[in-house]
Amino acid sequence: MTLSRFLLAGSLALASLSASAQALTFDKPEDAVAYRQQAFGLLETHFSNLTAMTLNRIPYDPLQARLDANAIRVLSRLPFHAFPAGTAAPLAGSRATDQIWTAAPRYADSARSLQQESDKIHGAVARGDLVQLRKTLNEAGAICRKCHDQFRAR
Ligand code: HEC
Repeated sequence: MTLSRFLLAGSLALASLSASAQALTFDKPEDAVAYRQQAFGLLETHFSNLTAMTLNRIPYDPLQARLDANAIRVLSRLPFHAFPAGTAAPLAGSRATDQIWTAAPRYADSARSLQQESDKIHGAVARGDLVQLRKTLNEAGAICRKCHDQFRAR
């Protein structure tokens, strides 16, 4: 299956990407940091692309929007499988603060709200509802910023 077919598949097995993040196993703590930073980086790429299309900074392409929405839905879940204890900043260039572990329920709530908003983004794209899409992208952006303010070192 090509990557784009994978990303377009409507029936992604989201059950295996549930909100209560099952931790992945990494050989080295540095590998966990690299994994989550890469996932966040890709999340940003698709989030920015979809935002640019909905704001008409670039032409709105419905197929690309579906790719972005599917990617966002998956990528909003992936980083949270890679926060094993002992991987706070400054390990391997990480900006993760200790509060991720000391205030774990609050961190999990923030991750869950991002995932719920990502599901709404996905729904809005599927329906072609651009008004709702702009609104939900805004709300998701606020969730990104709030979590970074609270849990990411400057
Ligand atoms: C629940 C908390 C949380 C939410 C929500 C969140 N992030 Fe982050 N993000 C983090 C943390 C923690 C880091 C630092 C990870 C590290 O350096 O180990 C981070 C790092 C990043 C990075 C830097 C990756 C790198 O290469 O260092 C980007 C880009 C990013 N986030 C984008 C986003 C976007 C876009 C959203 C919303 C669509 C988002 N994040 C939502 C917690 C969050």
